[in-house]
Amino acid sequence: MRVLVTGGAGYIGSVVTEELIKDGHTAVVYDSLYKGHREAVVAGAKLVEADLMDNERLRGALREHEIEAVIHMAADSLVGESVGNPAKYYRNNVVAGLSLLDAMRECEVKRVVFSSTAATYGEPEKQPIEETDPTNPTNPYGESKLAFERALRWYESAYGIRSASMRYFNAAGATAQCGEMHDPETHLIPILLQAAAGRREAVEIYGGDYPTRDGTCVRDYIHVVDLARAHILALGILGERSAIYNLGCGGDGYTVKEVIDVARAVTNREIPVRVAARRAGDPATLVASSDRIKRELGWSPQFQDLRLIIESAWAWMQSHPGGYER
Ligand SMILES: NC(=O)c1ccc[n+]([C@@H]2O[C@H](COP(=O)([O-])OP(=O)(O)OC[C@H]3O[C@@H](n4cnc5c(N)ncnc54)[C@H](O)[C@@H]3O)[C@@H](O)[C@H]2O)c1
Repeated sequence: MRVLVTGGAGYIGSVVTEELIKDGHTAVVYDSLYKGHREAVVAGAKLVEADLMDNERLRGALREHEIEAVIHMAADSLVGESVGNPAKYYRNNVVAGLSLLDAMRECEVKRVVFSSTAATYGEPEKQPIEETDPTNPTNPYGESKLAFERALRWYESAYGIRSASMRYFNAAGATAQCGEMHDPETHLIPILLQAAAGRREAVEIYGGDYPTRDGTCVRDYIHVVDLARAHILALGILGERSAIYNLGCGGDGYTVKEVIDVARAVTNREIPVRVAARRAGDPATLVASSDRIKRELGWSPQFQDLRLIIESAWAWMQSHPGGYER
């Protein structure tokens, strides 16, 4: 297929692009580079450097490259920032997303895989979270993603655009070429590895008195290649139907302390940590069930072991000591 990857110069989008090309698809990256990295655009992919709000460039890209499907990864995704600046999140995750859907409509592109988030569930009553559980986001980031999912439903019934919305928590890990580099970095694994590399002082753990096996929060980590494979698998159903899929690590999740222990073992370095107060709105446990995508699409994660995830992230950091050039 000829696939447009919005946000394809970002962390997950670069790996999605890499996997698409490996499978023999044609991939066009559509990214403003406002957060992404030119170097993260993998060889063999074309880059259209433009914003989603630029409808003319979008239509041009869809037509010129005869795009058949879109994998929509471009978004803002910092929960804390979204609470202080919801306007930014509604603008980029909803309004700019609608600009994409309108261009798709005009150019008769009828398939989109949307990288949503498990933040759409808010603070769930049960674990692991299933797709049938209520959505009740507790921040504008989750709310903006859910608003876009809801728009997708109506764009299907009115315009025939089919979609797969992928809901997951923490992407992690790297390929040999593509790794995680955000500014600011808010994700636990790269923060721990930066500390191991001496680029950061003590890492703060938010809360050590949760009702979990060791008092720290339990979270779900999923290897970025497994995520990419799931997005590509989901493309395959869009000829027939739309869907929503959760993606999770498949087990009970990992406590923050467990992640720290594995990071110390993998790097064989000191990682100083400090236990700080809980953060408001942080549930004790957040784990997504992947049963539906396993059952319906036969998705099976290859890198479920946290050690493999952290080893891949560490290997990328070692081979890219300065990260990507901007
Ligand atoms: N990283 C995670 O753990 C995680 C978890 C759940 C969901 N997600 C979702 O996955 C997607 C990708 O996340 P990521 O961590 O790779 O993010 P990222 O910030 O690394 O990549 C996002 C990319 O989108 C581009 N972009 C943003 N707005 C744009 C716009 N208006 N026009 C053109 N390009 C634009 C940025 O330049 C960047 O390259 C996001 O939609 C995010 O909400 C990520």
